[in-house]
Amino acid sequence: MKLITSFDEMRDAVKEHRRAGDSIGLVPTMGFFHAGHVSLMESADHENDMVVVSIFVNPTQFGPGEDFEDYPRNLDRDMEMAEQAGADYIFHPAVEDMYPRPYLTYISVEDITEGLCGAKRRGHFTGVATVVAKLFNIIPADRAYFGLKDAQQVRVIEKMVEDLNFNIEIAKCPTIRESDGLALSSRNMYLNGEERSAAAILYRSLQAAGEMISRGERDASAIIAGINKLLDSEELIEPEYVEVVDYRLLHPLEELRGEVLIALAARVGKARLIDNLLINLAQSPD
Ligand code: PAJ
Repeated sequence: MKLITSFDEMRDAVKEHRRAGDSIGLVPTMGFFHAGHVSLMESADHENDMVVVSIFVNPTQFGPGEDFEDYPRNLDRDMEMAEQAGADYIFHPAVEDMYPRPYLTYISVEDITEGLCGAKRRGHFTGVATVVAKLFNIIPADRAYFGLKDAQQVRVIEKMVEDLNFNIEIAKCPTIRESDGLALSSRNMYLNGEERSAAAILYRSLQAAGEMISRGERDASAIIAGINKLLDSEELIEPEYVEVVDYRLLHPLEELRGEVLIALAARVGKARLIDNLLINLAQSPD
């Protein structure tokens, strides 16, 4: 596995593999790997001849007062884990190279960025779309891998690819969880012992919502109330939002139908955690 920081070197490596007829998989990340990142890399390794993993803590997707400075970083450990998972290259550009001064060009995906995490984190998805578009230009891969843990992010990238005619397939990967259901996240390291135990309620509340739906519940407000009741039972959890939306449009639903995303965000101590459940009711018999 090779570590590359220069754009030219990265472009040349991709060109060489293309000439050899290799298919190319890209896994964009901000590093500090856990089993969620590893699962993306393993899928990419399985489905492509060559895999590039990018590691870049992207300043433009962090708002003022968010954790850009504190965001955990450990390149040596990441390199070992990526190599084990089948990565061929780590692309690790410098902030000054990604954002030459003055930096003036951004990609803003409208509408679907306004709700859910976009409502609190103004400008966040513009930062995400911009950096991902730049990565797609530097590394013209056949497929790029994203986790459904960040479901709104995946939709934003899918829409950008559709609207701007990027020639890349977006692969959506399932959420990897701890044994008590907590979705793996680099931000889980901000939790102390008590907060960590309390955080399990996030997924438990989503599972309870899933059970309500399998029993036939289709009223979004009943689902939201059920989730909020469980979240309220844990003192250390401060919910930010609980929403039931259509997965494609990310607009709130009153009645559940089609591809439904149940998404939540909550503050637990210093951490802001998100999780979701994606349910396809399109084929259900009711
Ligand atoms: P980061 O938080 O490092 O996540 C990189 C990828 O790993 C994302 O696609 C994310 O959805 C996925 N991921 C995170 N936790 C996961 C889990 N528990 N199970 C499965 N996949 C998981 O997301 C970003 O970085 C950035 O916004 C980025 C897309 C790299 C743009 O800067």
